[in-house]
Amino acid sequence: MEKLDLFLEGRTKRLYRTDNENFLILEFKDNATAFDGQKKGKIEGKGAINNQISSHLFKYLESHHVATHFDRSVSPTEMLVKKVEIIPIEVVVRNVVSGRMVTLYGWKEGEELKCPVVEYYLKDNSLSDPMINESHVMAFELAEAEEVKALNRIARKVNVILRPFFDRRELLLVDFKLEFGRHKNYLLVADEISPDTCRIWDKKSKKKLDRDRFRKDMGGVKDAYQEVLTRIVGAESSQSVIT
Ligand code: TMP
Ligand code: ASP
Repeated sequence: MEKLDLFLEGRTKRLYRTDNENFLILEFKDNATAFDGQKKGKIEGKGAINNQISSHLFKYLESHHVATHFDRSVSPTEMLVKKVEIIPIEVVVRNVVSGRMVTLYGWKEGEELKCPVVEYYLKDNSLSDPMINESHVMAFELAEAEEVKALNRIARKVNVILRPFFDRRELLLVDFKLEFGRHKNYLLVADEISPDTCRIWDKKSKKKLDRDRFRKDMGGVKDAYQEVLTRIVGAESSQSVIT
């Protein structure tokens, strides 16, 4: 597959066209952002780490019959993905209270939820991704009724698959955000699944190993992401990204 011109550039990723109109190359940049792009930074090596974590998680989900846009890894920082039409809804699944659950409801960070909570946000950074519900989705025709049901079902299934996966690696999957895309009448999990889009804590110490380290100026961002990669894929195969 030949890499052609730039198709789209976001804050942390770039998409390139390829010589096959059904596929794009997704490149992970080292840029770090938070608070709708107000806070910016660069973490050398983050792109390669996130590409490997995302690739591994997409492959794992595919092996559990969750369809994703992932095709294969094509370089340390790039993956080949199916071209999708992104649905402008961010689906968040939460297992443990953190982030917006603390600021919005005043609940205590770290408290385990009795059952997972699924939320929808409008994918619009200029509005700070406001929370929406199913009737907003229908009223604004963001997705079909059947699609909303599928988003909810697939997001819960991803949680059921990934939570024990992380748990076996002594990691707590606190919450995560998924994006979905349409591809030839299929719904695919798209974008990325990485410490940029998940909250992941060490199970025992509750040390944060995700983008909160960048948001809150806690330092050690790269080491934390590397720790997640090492625990996910094993020390041996993650050596190549240590630069
Ligand atoms: P929140 O607590 O800020 O709502 O975030 C919940 C989870 O979703 C957390 O893992 C971060 C992730 N997330 C993103 O990756 N991008 C986003 O734009 C939002 C709103 C959340
Ligand atoms: N996801 C938003 C952003 O990237 C807000 C945040 O999570 O910090 O700006």
